[in-house]
Amino acid sequence: MTTTKARKKPEELRSHRWYGAKDMRSFGHRSRTAGMGYHRSDYMGKPVIAIINTWSDINTCHTHFKQRVEEIKRGVWQAGGFPVEMPAMSLSEPMQKPTTMLYRNLLAMETEELLRSYPADGCVLMGGCDKTTPALIMGALSMNLPTMFMPAGPMLRGDYKGKFLGSGSDTWKYWAELRAGNITEDDWQEVEDGIARSPGHCMTMGTASTMTSAAEVLGFTLPGAASIPAPDSRHAQMATLTGKAIVEMVWEDVKPSDFLTAASFDNAVTAVLGLGGSTNSIVHLVAMAKRAGINLTIDRFDELARKTPVIANLRPSGAYLMEDFYYSGGLRAFLAQMGDLIDGSAMQCNGKTLAENIAGAKVYNDDVIRPRSNPLVAKDGLAVLRGNLAPEGAIIKPAAMEKRFYKHQGRAVVFTDYNDMNARLDDPNLDIDADSVIVLQSAGPQGAPGMPEWGQLPIPQKLLKQGVRDMLRISDARMSGTSYGACVLHVTPESHVGGPLALVQTGDLIAMDIEARTVDLKISDEEFAKRRAAWKAPAPKFTRGYGVLYLKHIQQADKGCDFDFLEPDQVQAAAATGGGEPEIH
Ligand code: FES
Repeated sequence: MTTTKARKKPEELRSHRWYGAKDMRSFGHRSRTAGMGYHRSDYMGKPVIAIINTWSDINTCHTHFKQRVEEIKRGVWQAGGFPVEMPAMSLSEPMQKPTTMLYRNLLAMETEELLRSYPADGCVLMGGCDKTTPALIMGALSMNLPTMFMPAGPMLRGDYKGKFLGSGSDTWKYWAELRAGNITEDDWQEVEDGIARSPGHCMTMGTASTMTSAAEVLGFTLPGAASIPAPDSRHAQMATLTGKAIVEMVWEDVKPSDFLTAASFDNAVTAVLGLGGSTNSIVHLVAMAKRAGINLTIDRFDELARKTPVIANLRPSGAYLMEDFYYSGGLRAFLAQMGDLIDGSAMQCNGKTLAENIAGAKVYNDDVIRPRSNPLVAKDGLAVLRGNLAPEGAIIKPAAMEKRFYKHQGRAVVFTDYNDMNARLDDPNLDIDADSVIVLQSAGPQGAPGMPEWGQLPIPQKLLKQGVRDMLRISDARMSGTSYGACVLHVTPESHVGGPLALVQTGDLIAMDIEARTVDLKISDEEFAKRRAAWKAPAPKFTRGYGVLYLKHIQQADKGCDFDFLEPDQVQAAAATGGGEPEIH
């Protein structure tokens, strides 16, 4: 990378404090490295590259990481570095209860502390399954060492009776058809057997594809890395190239703070919008920007959404899957197609500008990656709503809902928590119709806890049988990036801490207007005040362990749900009062 910094000398490497010092502790470091079969000449004076690997038997999306890590190591060796694999907790989206979001910040802390406490000169982060991408990058941002991200890559398209299946999206679709009695249990099992048929993350434009694409736009990967399907041999090649590149980044001392700017985050948000990306990207990008010392608000998403068309025709908003996206030119071609909506002068980890990294990229199928003159949706891929029901904001994805709900008023049917909803939703006597507004309380960061992806609230069975496939639904939960529907999400403040959502009662009228960006509870101020005075704070959800730390420090969705003590200004404030980080010896 062309910087004004002088190229590092071997004795200036951070790892020199472990391996190069002439004291008894460094004897211990070297002798134990020798014990693993390495000679001094293998590592002395060479960049030590920590490869943070989130492989796990329980994470289907990362099953190929055992092999990929060897390919990254090969690149590090070839470039004259010393690769050290460091396993970190895996956040397996389909397996972890109540939600991986509860543990995003724990993986971020683990990443930061692994890098801090071991002799890492630079790192390659291996992730892709939903929260792993923001978690790894958040932790690395707080350490600010030379950092690259190796995305897991999407899995192959699913297959069912000659049709392509999309992760998540087709699960919701066929689950609704099963509940409506339109498919059999045998059909449902065929969907189960064919929807995830290779390593890699979800292959719709869900949270995984959204966040790996955002990581590439921010500059953490080599160009084109995020779109390559996991089983493709070009994915393995990319792993080796990444291993080579990180060694050079260490010598040139290129840190995230050298290439990340507010423009980089605007580019990431714009790309997410143009891709029809996941609503989850909002909490993650806000948190990542904060770790980088950049102020990104949820309102910035709304501002950019008003002028950004959705041009990627990918499920859940569109028709195709990530494999099609890759064959159509992938993220580089998409970014080229976005034209002047993207700031091409933003720098990337390989020392080139974004414009240089996408130069020459071509679209090979303009139904998958549309021209801006023929977008899937002209604007408003995401929208931020406010009103007396969500004073600090709420999110909706207009691109993936029925248009009749763009302006809607209906009668609330309230469920006080997830169990209440499951117990009563399919009751044939439930007083609900297609114009009702389904409300779920206690599903936010503290209330659920962990703000799970419950926000695509199920449609009652009796309405499914009548052919209803979308309704206005409101909660303080998140929604899977693979979900769709008229779902108002991330209502802030959440109900568990006394947000207005806690005060809604069945029978109240709720009005939403996407054009006006409003969501309101239609009760009088007097009634509002009366209900607020009667509200009682529920008991905390945890009384021991990590959960107590989580509840004490988790911030609300509009702040990115990071822990307050991990934000840069908190670290600086601690340092100013004599606290801060200890010197490592
Ligand atoms: Fe891992 Fe969807 S289950 S990305």
